[in-house]
Formats: sequence, structure tokens, C-alpha cells
Amino acid sequence: MADWEERFDALVERKTAEAREAAIAPLVTDRDETGDRLAGIGNAWSRAMFGGLFYVSPSASGDLPATNLVFVQSRDGNTVTNDPSTLGGGKVDTHLIYEGLSRVAADAVLVGARTIGGGQFVMSVWRPELVALRAAMALPRHPVQIVATLHGVRLEEDLMFNVPQLRVILITVARGEEAMRVRLQTRPWITPVVMDDPLDLPAAFRELRRLGIERLSCIGGRTLAGAALDAGLIQDIYLTTGTNTGGEPDTPFYSKRLNAREVVRKHGTGPDAGVVFQHLTTRPF
Ligand SMILES: NC(=O)c1ccc[n+]([C@@H]2O[C@H](COP(=O)([O-])OP(=O)(O)OC[C@H]3O[C@@H](n4cnc5c(N)ncnc54)[C@H](OP(=O)(O)O)[C@@H]3O)[C@@H](O)[C@H]2O)c1
Repeated sequence: MADWEERFDALVERKTAEAREAAIAPLVTDRDETGDRLAGIGNAWSRAMFGGLFYVSPSASGDLPATNLVFVQSRDGNTVTNDPSTLGGGKVDTHLIYEGLSRVAADAVLVGARTIGGGQFVMSVWRPELVALRAAMALPRHPVQIVATLHGVRLEEDLMFNVPQLRVILITVARGEEAMRVRLQTRPWITPVVMDDPLDLPAAFRELRRLGIERLSCIGGRTLAGAALDAGLIQDIYLTTGTNTGGEPDTPFYSKRLNAREVVRKHGTGPDAGVVFQHLTTRPF
């Protein structure tokens, strides 16, 4: 256990240093049609960097978490790559949007099992000004880590599953829970949410809400994101389009027609010139 704690401390130190040292060029607003229909969050630093308040939806319904989806796509619309930073979203996407405003107000961050590969994946905010914003909203230092897996994941291999101070929830089905049963017994900080059917994400989301998750940020990948969009579980989409072409061909974050409306649009400046940020909402507006 000591070894995992040491690795976690080293990760926190590294991620904090990277975020603190990142020179972020502010975004400039091209469109803001949010009116008073969404809630605005921010502090002086985030407002200066984002070019205003960052908007989040109220909860979709009484028994589901309010859920956003955050993606970076290449200039030609692809999302699959082992290193999404190669898509050209720049530091503003990595440090202000992705590991920042999209999750700063979230109780939990949700990811598909294929995205966490690599063992050192912890979903939190790291930039000190965003850590302060989270604290000002009286939220715990780290969001709950939620992983969706049908087959089950190897709990003994990933840092995220071996640090008792990180609360973890696994969305799975019976065979996935069975595959992880022995290792779950020694990790009481991990809670499985077992669906009767892989298609029953709404039931899993209701259970998340029952477990205290009121606001959730889903980071994909596109398999999980597609299922959540199909099920009508996403209200806000934060989409950054990078300056590079690339990623695996034909891998948009959603392959069907997206029924969503752009309410905010911003563009990057300085080294991030050419980056576009969009906030799309799936709610009737
Ligand atoms: N550009 C971006 O912003 C961005 C964001 C995220 C990821 N990515 C990239 O996208 C790639 C991964 O995306 P992906 O679409 O292949 O995989 P993914 O969505 O990350 O994960 C898919 C896995 O999630 C689990 N899963 C899927 N549907 C589920 C459901 N209804 N209930 C419970 N579990 C479910 C299954 O896990 P099991 O296999 O364990 O059963 C499935 O294999 C990586 O290259 C990653 O770097 C890019």
C-alpha cells in the first residue's frame, strides 16, 4: 500500500507542476447565448482565462446527475488517439477545459475502460487556481473516479484503484463484477454499480445520483460517449477543435446526427490561435 501512496503523491506533484507551469493563452468569446438559462461558475483567474463565466446546466431530472461530455477533436473531426494532445487543442484545452472547468464543479468524472490504459490515470483538477475554485464550492479535493467496464478491469494494476483516498465507482454488469469480485473485497473504497443489461446506462446513472453524484463530467471515449448520448444522459457538450489534422480516421465523438445547439463559441489566442471551443447543449433552449 505504501508504494501506491508514494506513487500517488508523485503523480499529484507532477500534475500540479505541469498545470502550474503551463502558459495558458486566454480564450476570446465569439458567441454567448446562454442568457440566464445556465449557471455560471468561475473565479477571477478562470474568468480571465476563459473570457467569462463557464456555464453548466442544472440537473436534467430529479433522479439523474447533470452530466457534461468533454472532447477534443482534430481539425478534421477525429478523437481516437493514444495522446489527445496531438490533436492540437493546446494548453488551453488540456489545462483550462479538460483537466479544468469541465470537471471543476463535478462530483465525479466518468471514463470508459479503454481510455484509462497506462496505469497512471487519475481524473482531477491540478492547476492551483482551479483547485481553489473547487474548494470554494465546498467540493472534495478529487472528484469520484468512475470507470465503465463490461468485462471488468484489472484492479491490481492501475493507480486509481489502489489509493483509498480516491473514491471509485465501477459501472459494470454481473460478469464484470464477478471477474473483479476477489479484488473488490480488499478495496472497500470501490463501489460497483451493476446493471442488469449493458444498455441500461440510465439505471446506472440513477444509482450514481442515489450515491450522491449530482454533477458528472464524462470524458469518453467515443464508445461510452455514444451510449450516453443515445440514452439522452448528456446535457452539455464541451468540444474543442484542435489545429492539427490526425487521430484515427473516421472517429468523430458521435457518429450519428447530433441534436444539439451551440450556445457558446470561443477561439484561442497566441500559441493556441486556431483552436475553437464550443459549448453545445442538448436541452431545448
Ligand atoms: N479526443 C478525446 O477527447 C478523447 C477522449 C477520450 C478518449 N479518447 C481516446 O479514445 C480511445 C478510446 O475510446 P474507445 O471508444 O475505444 O473506448 P472507451 O469509450 O474509452 O471505452 C470503451 C469501454 O468502455 C466500456 N463500456 C462501453 N460501453 C459501456 C456501457 N454501456 N456500460 C459499461 N461499460 C461500457 C467497455 O469496457 P470493457 O472493454 O472493459 O468491457 C468498453 O470496451 C483512446 O484512444 C483514447 O485515448 C480521446
